[in-house]
Amino acid sequence: MTPAAIEPWRRVVFLRMSNSPLDCDFLVIGGGIAGLMFAIKAAEAGTVIVLTKAESAEANTAYAQGGIASVWSVEDTFESHIEDTLRAGAGLCDRNAVESIVREGPDTVRELIRFGTRFTRVEAGGEDEYDLGREGGHSHRRVLHAQDLTGREIMRALGEVASAHPNIRILENHVAVNLLTERFNGSAACWGVYVLDRMTGKVGRIVAPVTMLATGGAGKVYLYTSNPDIASGDGVAMAYRAGAPVGNMEFIQFHPTCLYHPAAKSFLISEALRGEGAILRLPDGTPFMKKYHPDGELAPRDIVARAIDAEMKRLGLDFVYLDLSHREAGFIRNRFPNIFKRCLSYGIDMTAQPIPVVPAAHYMCGGVVTDLHARTSIARLYAAGEVAMTGLHGANRLASNSLLEAAVMGRRAAAAASKDLAAARGRLVPEFAQWDPGRAIKSEERVLISQSWDEIRRLMWNYVGIVRSDRRLARATRRLELLNQEIHSYYWDHLLDSDLIELRNLVTVAELIVRSATTRKESRGLHYNIDHPERDDANWLRPTIIAK
Ligand code: FAD
Ligand code: SIN
Repeated sequence: MTPAAIEPWRRVVFLRMSNSPLDCDFLVIGGGIAGLMFAIKAAEAGTVIVLTKAESAEANTAYAQGGIASVWSVEDTFESHIEDTLRAGAGLCDRNAVESIVREGPDTVRELIRFGTRFTRVEAGGEDEYDLGREGGHSHRRVLHAQDLTGREIMRALGEVASAHPNIRILENHVAVNLLTERFNGSAACWGVYVLDRMTGKVGRIVAPVTMLATGGAGKVYLYTSNPDIASGDGVAMAYRAGAPVGNMEFIQFHPTCLYHPAAKSFLISEALRGEGAILRLPDGTPFMKKYHPDGELAPRDIVARAIDAEMKRLGLDFVYLDLSHREAGFIRNRFPNIFKRCLSYGIDMTAQPIPVVPAAHYMCGGVVTDLHARTSIARLYAAGEVAMTGLHGANRLASNSLLEAAVMGRRAAAAASKDLAAARGRLVPEFAQWDPGRAIKSEERVLISQSWDEIRRLMWNYVGIVRSDRRLARATRRLELLNQEIHSYYWDHLLDSDLIELRNLVTVAELIVRSATTRKESRGLHYNIDHPERDDANWLRPTIIAK
């Protein structure tokens, strides 16, 4: 082991406590819906720094199309939204989490509107109302949306409020590397992070009494994903390294319909199309979903994704078709302007022809285990949004429940963290060592990083995808062990950059997914193993929790 191989935070012995100044009251890692909701609410109690690892507009949130689920119409009820969520979650949802998050939906949506989000409105029976979309697994229309650019609109509104707030500073292109933790008598507390400034290449510390992890998902673990490049599971990996338990990592949701086109990098074709009557067809035009589920195209997402996968494998297809061309062209252009325009740019006119689609990794249902105030097991470390596991989604997330969960939990966390802040004020702050690169050198062989990155994503797609088996999981475990060793030795011998940080996190998250999938000897929700094809409530009606 070279001197560079000693992790700086491990070397920190708390010989000294001091009154050294804090950098802010609340440090937020991530500027998507969860991070911004938290930041705006927490800024009422103290100063906030928000880190985003790329430009601040780049987050999974910005790509959300379908919308945010919430009981809104008079025909709908909380009970119905709760039941739909529990049904999708296949026995693994935490009922308390489901009830409390669903019931807080309308208030949270009203707050988003108050912050300036403009959801699409329609005229119905002479009244001007919010338009409610329908998606798979929902028994009512309850999805508020901004045409098919809901996430971008939410980011615009929250981004404007946060940027204008005197208590909030947003630091773009700052990549959190590791949490700063203080350990005492077997328990741990968080004091911020080591962070890489991508513009200068320097690693510094940000010290804060409250840290919020809002780093989003991990779609980049898979070769094909609907997620943007930022989604490399950094928050899960950092929290796990710091000792926080993570749960339900085997439940990766594959979105059934991403555009299949060589030039289209991860473009989603929203489930809302199926909500408006789009039909999945084979190349000869035959619809096939009714064969798999009585709800056809509106069956839960895991069933639709598996059905497409099965048809593609059965017939050796590269894609299937999603067809909305039977709806009126004006309706399609107006309801789905972004999808229409994007498809047209690839030569596909969705008002007149079907769209070629394939499933792709989309959403991480598991994550860092939290309570219903977003607290993790580490004192003053919170987690909200896709990085967290509250118990809302169980074994499968209901469409459009994630923006809801992220917004509700971001808000709640701010309330709880403000109390923590009051208690932490006046405490002595540990003196954390400066990041010490030791004898690390500049990474010259980029091919070693890109090859490992590619191997992880390909093996996860082939061995730990929509359908799994014991043999595939065993192979994945062996390959990842080797990759993990190689990546870790490379990591410690080279100066940090964002690719290397992400690669280390990616291999950790991949291992957590494989370990969880290997542990669960049954099929449930999003986890389908051909060697254990049945659901086994007697043994597996519980989350899969892994701690270091
Ligand atoms: P994100 O919005 O992903 O934000 C993560 C933030 O963390 C980013 O700012 C990123 O820069 C930052 N970050 C990450 N790592 C680091 C690091 N190491 N250091 C510093 N910063 C870091 N859900 C719905 O409910 N409805 C939908 O219609 C819907 N449509 C979707 C469509 C697409 C194409 C995708 C990809 C997802 C969709 N989802 C939808 C899921 C939903 O968008 C996400 O789950 C949700 O937006 C996650 O929000 P978040 O705040 O947790 O994370
Ligand atoms: C979509 O619009 O299909 C995505 C909805 C979601 O992931 O919740």
